[in-house]
Amino acid sequence: MEAERCQLTIDGQPHAFALEGEFFWGKDEQLFSEASSPIAGTGWQNQGYTCFPLMQGDEYARLLGSIRRILSRIGAGLGVVLPDDFRPEEYHRYFLTEELHQQVIQQTRFLTFRDFDLDFREWCSRVATFVGHPLQLENPLLPEEIVILRISRPNSLDINPLHRDGYLDIWAGVLNLWIPIAGCDAHSSLPVIPGSHLWRENTIRRTAAKGARINGLTYHVPGIVGAASGLHLIRPDPAYGEALLFTPFLIHGAAINENPDTTRLSLELRFCRS
Ligand SMILES: [Fe+2]
Repeated sequence: MEAERCQLTIDGQPHAFALEGEFFWGKDEQLFSEASSPIAGTGWQNQGYTCFPLMQGDEYARLLGSIRRILSRIGAGLGVVLPDDFRPEEYHRYFLTEELHQQVIQQTRFLTFRDFDLDFREWCSRVATFVGHPLQLENPLLPEEIVILRISRPNSLDINPLHRDGYLDIWAGVLNLWIPIAGCDAHSSLPVIPGSHLWRENTIRRTAAKGARINGLTYHVPGIVGAASGLHLIRPDPAYGEALLFTPFLIHGAAINENPDTTRLSLELRFCRS
């Protein structure tokens, strides 16, 4: 397997890391289709993303409570006892080894709606009203919708490669939500390339699905290593209680956590156009 260096900037600062895979430039085609996109007709269609005030009342507090319960349950199964006043951004002080962390993320990438004390159907209807298209929680291409809790420790390469979720058929018709939980700020939150959903495939160098590796870990989505116009990302940095909404064809990822002593936690949801 070859390795190439992925060079990018985030808010103007250069970063680089090695990506392993078999790389190629795509065909002369644009995958984003305005006709079927959940963001069609919005004022941010050409930008590809926006920040949306998703939560109301005590929902952010309930989200935090759910995260505490989930991590306490997983910790108990691994012999890690979390205190009652556990703060999620201090995760790295309790899950001390790489092995423990890997065991945690095996479980946090397959959570379901039932793990949370929240009404996701209500969230879906708020977002549907905002974008002006009917949306549903259920993905007809999946047996059960999954919720992914992402955990990125400080001073780590706990990142996925730059990618488009839309390269996978199961996610080509969704609207992505990235929701900050803890440890998210201008030095850690999810970077995106504005307008990159409109880039043609022959301007993007990438791997096939399940073909990208960082630090020995294989990722499901194809990894992007280069682009004709360079890889220049910004961090929209949504506030707690907000969600970053974006088309699955927007290039995102490489969410390097630059905070020295704070774990970043975020939630990924996908709503389907119905
Ligand atoms: Fe993604």
